[in-house]
Amino acid sequence: MEGELLEGRRILLIIAGGIAAYKSLELIRRLRERGAAVRCVMTEAARQFVTPLSVSSLSEDKVYGDLWSLTDESEMGHIRLSREADLLVVAPATADLIARMAMGLADDLAATTLLASDKPVLIAPAMNAMMWAHPATQANLATLAARGVMRVGPGSGDLACGEVGFGRMAEPADILAAIVRALAPDRRLAGRRALVTSGPTREPIDPVRYLSNHSSGKQGHAIAAALAALGAETVLVSGPTQEPTPAGVRLVAVETARQMLEASEAALPVDVAVMAAAVSDWRVDTAAGQKLKKDGKGPPSLRLVENPDILASIAGRHNDRPLLVIGFAAETENVVANARAKRKRKGCDWILANDVSPGTGTFGGDRNTIHMVDGDLVEDWPVMSKIEVAARLADRIAEVLQSGNLAPHR
Ligand code: C5P
Repeated sequence: MEGELLEGRRILLIIAGGIAAYKSLELIRRLRERGAAVRCVMTEAARQFVTPLSVSSLSEDKVYGDLWSLTDESEMGHIRLSREADLLVVAPATADLIARMAMGLADDLAATTLLASDKPVLIAPAMNAMMWAHPATQANLATLAARGVMRVGPGSGDLACGEVGFGRMAEPADILAAIVRALAPDRRLAGRRALVTSGPTREPIDPVRYLSNHSSGKQGHAIAAALAALGAETVLVSGPTQEPTPAGVRLVAVETARQMLEASEAALPVDVAVMAAAVSDWRVDTAAGQKLKKDGKGPPSLRLVENPDILASIAGRHNDRPLLVIGFAAETENVVANARAKRKRKGCDWILANDVSPGTGTFGGDRNTIHMVDGDLVEDWPVMSKIEVAARLADRIAEVLQSGNLAPHR
C-alpha cells in the first residue's frame, strides 16, 4: 500500500471548516507526490482555517468554493466537479457537513457537489468528542454508511479543543491508504468461474412462430456484468434480448430451454451459478417443420410438454455442482412463502424472490424489490435498480466464497 501510485487518478477533495484542515494540506501534498490530480472545494468555514492560496499552491489548481460563481456557463459547474473525479474525499468532514450530507442539503458548493454526485465518497470526520458522540452525529453517520459512504477515522487522542477523546481526524497517511483502498478495483472473484442465465427462451411452434415471455434480460445481464467486474470468468447463457453483452463476459446465445440447459452444462465446472433466465416452462412437443397454414379445418392444436428445469438440474449435479447455486422466483402473491418452497424444491442455495404482479413494473423495468431467501433466513432488500441488485448479489457471492462459509445442501 505504501508508495502505491495514484497516477492519473482524480481526487475531488472537499475541505470543511475544522482545525484539522491543516492536515489536508499534507494530504494534498502526498496525493500529488503519488501522481494523483487533486481538485479542491473549500467551504466558507474552511477558509478561516487554511488559506485558498495554500490549497491552490499545493494542488496546483484553482480552488472552488463559491456556488454562485459556478452558475456561469464559462465556469466549472458543480456537476462537472464530481463528473471529473474518480473519488470524492471529505477531509475534514465536520459534524455540520456530515449532517448536511445526511439530509441531502445543497446550501453551498461542497454540499451541492456531494448531492449531485454518483461517485464513491470517503469521509474523514474531525470534531470535538461530544459532537462525535452525539446521537445526531451517530445517526447521520449511520445514514451515510447505509448509502455506501466510506469512512476513515476518527482516532482518539488530544483534540484541538483541549479535550481528549474521539474525534481526531485520521492522519494524512491513513487517509491516503484509505484513498488507495477505495480506488483499488475490487477483484474478490478473480480466479473464480461464474455461470449466469438470462433473458427469455423461445420455443418454436413452426419455423416462424414461437412461445416466449416478456423477460428483458436486464437483471441477468447486470449480474453477469457485476460478477465479471469482480474478476470472475463469467459465461452468460442468454436467450434473445436487446441488452448489450457486458464487458469481460463470454456470451453463449441460445433460443430454447434445451439449448440453454446444454450450454449451461457445458460451462461447468463453475464456482457460482445464477439462474436469472425466464425459462419457458413448456415447449411444443414437435415443432412443425414448415409454417403452419390456415387450411380451413380450424386452428391447429398444440401439444405442450414440460421443459427441463435448468436451475434444478444444475443444483442437483453430483460431481460438479457449483459451490453456490442461486435462483430467482418471480411471484405475484405470497412472494416469500412461495420462494421458500421453491428453494427446497429446486435444491438451490439462495432464491432471490421478486414481486412481479402487475403495477410493480419489474418485468422489463429498471427497478426490483428483492427478498433474499437463504435457508430459513429472509433478507428484505430495499427497492433498488437492477444494477444495484446485481452489485449487491455479487458482493454477497464474493463474501460467501471468500469466507468458505457455505451451507451444506447435499
Ligand atoms: O419455477 P420457476 O420458473 O418459478 O423458477 C424460477 C427459477 O428457476 C429462475 O431462477 C429460473 O431461471 C429457473 N428456471 C430454470 N429452468 C426452468 C424454469 C425455471 O432454470 N425450466
